[in-house]
Amino acid sequence: MCGIIGILGSHQVAPQLVEALKRLEYRGYDSAGVATIDDAGKLDRRRAVGKLVNLSDRLVAQPLSGRSGIGHTRWATHGAATEGNAHPHQRGPVAVVHNGIIENFKELREELVAAGYSPESETDTETVAMLTAKYLADGLTPVEAARATLSRLHGAFALAFLFEGESDLMVAARRGSPLAVGHGDNEMYVGSDAIALAPFTDRITYLEEGDHVILTREGAEVFNADGRPVNREIAQIDVGATTIDKGGYRHFMAKEIAQQPAVIGDVLSHYIKDGRIVLPEGLDFRDTDRLTLVACGTAYLAGYVAKYWFEKLAGLPCDLDVASEFRYREPPLSDKSWAMFISQSGETADTLAALHYANGKVAKTLGVVNVGTSAIARDTDIALPTLAGVEVCVASSKAFTCQLTVLAVLALKAAHDRGRLTDAELASHIDDLRAIPALVNQAINIADECQELSGWLSESTDVLFLGRGPLYPVALEGALKLKELSYIHAEGYASGELKHGPIALIDQHMPVVVVAPRDELFEKTISNMQEVMARHGQVLLISDAAGIREGGDGVRASLTMPTGGGIFQPIVYAVPMQYLAYYTAVAKGTDVDQPRNLAKSVTVE
Ligand code: F6R
Repeated sequence: MCGIIGILGSHQVAPQLVEALKRLEYRGYDSAGVATIDDAGKLDRRRAVGKLVNLSDRLVAQPLSGRSGIGHTRWATHGAATEGNAHPHQRGPVAVVHNGIIENFKELREELVAAGYSPESETDTETVAMLTAKYLADGLTPVEAARATLSRLHGAFALAFLFEGESDLMVAARRGSPLAVGHGDNEMYVGSDAIALAPFTDRITYLEEGDHVILTREGAEVFNADGRPVNREIAQIDVGATTIDKGGYRHFMAKEIAQQPAVIGDVLSHYIKDGRIVLPEGLDFRDTDRLTLVACGTAYLAGYVAKYWFEKLAGLPCDLDVASEFRYREPPLSDKSWAMFISQSGETADTLAALHYANGKVAKTLGVVNVGTSAIARDTDIALPTLAGVEVCVASSKAFTCQLTVLAVLALKAAHDRGRLTDAELASHIDDLRAIPALVNQAINIADECQELSGWLSESTDVLFLGRGPLYPVALEGALKLKELSYIHAEGYASGELKHGPIALIDQHMPVVVVAPRDELFEKTISNMQEVMARHGQVLLISDAAGIREGGDGVRASLTMPTGGGIFQPIVYAVPMQYLAYYTAVAKGTDVDQPRNLAKSVTVE
């Protein structure tokens, strides 16, 4: 979602702003802009719709000079993706960039219109610039005007303000959306994340909820939500961990799929040492009788797989919900239960709000989070790192399989704690889990076959994915990946549910992807597959060699998966879901890493 950068530097800042914005591209955006203050103190801006290259072209045609500036990638919420709605929003002597939503912008706008200000855009952000300009016109200093503005805003946001004639001042604030301050040598920075700041500095301060900061080239003064000055730690970040290059791959997604054996291996070495599960203190599953799993999108589907594991292995009842429903349903939560929040970014607004709803109502909140400095990692009682490394492609791949791996470890711990697994059984499941990186590596070899199949899928308008048991959420993930990457309509169904409605869709044009390892549910899924074929549905069967041998007659195509992994096979079967979507998107020529309308870090509800 929207990305923010601000620089008080010592060099021409416009190219630096664009460089930083490139590093924020992965968050998803549809327009971009920068504003600078030139050496005479004049504030000016350039904006462009579409990719950053359009903004760069604009800056070549109409350069901006100056050593102080702010920049923004916008993911449209209020108002279409037009140049007029792009940030920075400038009103007289102030320019503003914003991530989030100003919920009371309509009433503020009415007040400003009554005071003689006329809006030029459809955005909520412009109201912030107008309000600050009004306070400046009323005689407040820039810092006072920014503070007065912040005190009037409702909603979730990160903001940065730049003022004409003030080339050594920037004000920034965080409420609900992430913001980091970067410390340089006589240079200061602010950005949506450390990735944006990594080319400039490795010394970062993460602002806390409600903080605002006054930046000059000499340093940062941070004030908390009560307006009191506070010291916030300066952390040394590992710049290597923020590297965002494609490493020779055509797309980040291809790189991130291929990284999975290594990062899943990292997760296993982190949580399993000498054959024993090693988790933070306070995770004894005998202390709880119910687990609530909450997440969005692909992270929700990781929770869905985990529900099968927790219930089957550990006998622990699990409630599962998408965060946007959970937060408003006001579900009763027992004070003995635990609630777990799964999120790659750790900033997803709905998941964060769901966590805040659960905090205090349940005995413990757990986070399964990839970004260790994120709000969900900070606000849960126990945060378990996913260790996937930076995931740049908007569509999640390696974060999903790493989430699954962490959840698998937790389910085993729960099963052992609750006396459902003997030591020997636990050891056998741990062996299955340790086999996963090698199995995922073998699964990656089916990339070429998935590419061959993509010609067929890319010509379809609808695709069905079927699975049973823990492979059902994998089928859902296959459909989600195909939809978001290739824009082909796809649905995931529990195989047994097909005859209760969706079977009406089946005809000779409909590709049906059946995910069915040769497990105890195999025969049932294959019967459902036969029902599809009897209606001329075109089946792609994904199974192991035995499954293809036994069930593969009459299918249009098959993919042979490696055997092994026991109950944790869903992690391996995620790979063909990813490759089918990836190659279909490549065949259709869509924007694989930044699909239209999508954002990586969804910081609005
Ligand atoms: C799909 C995808 C999204 C995210 C969802 C939650 O490929 O990436 O569905 O899984 O937006 O995001 P996080 O995990 O950051 O909370």
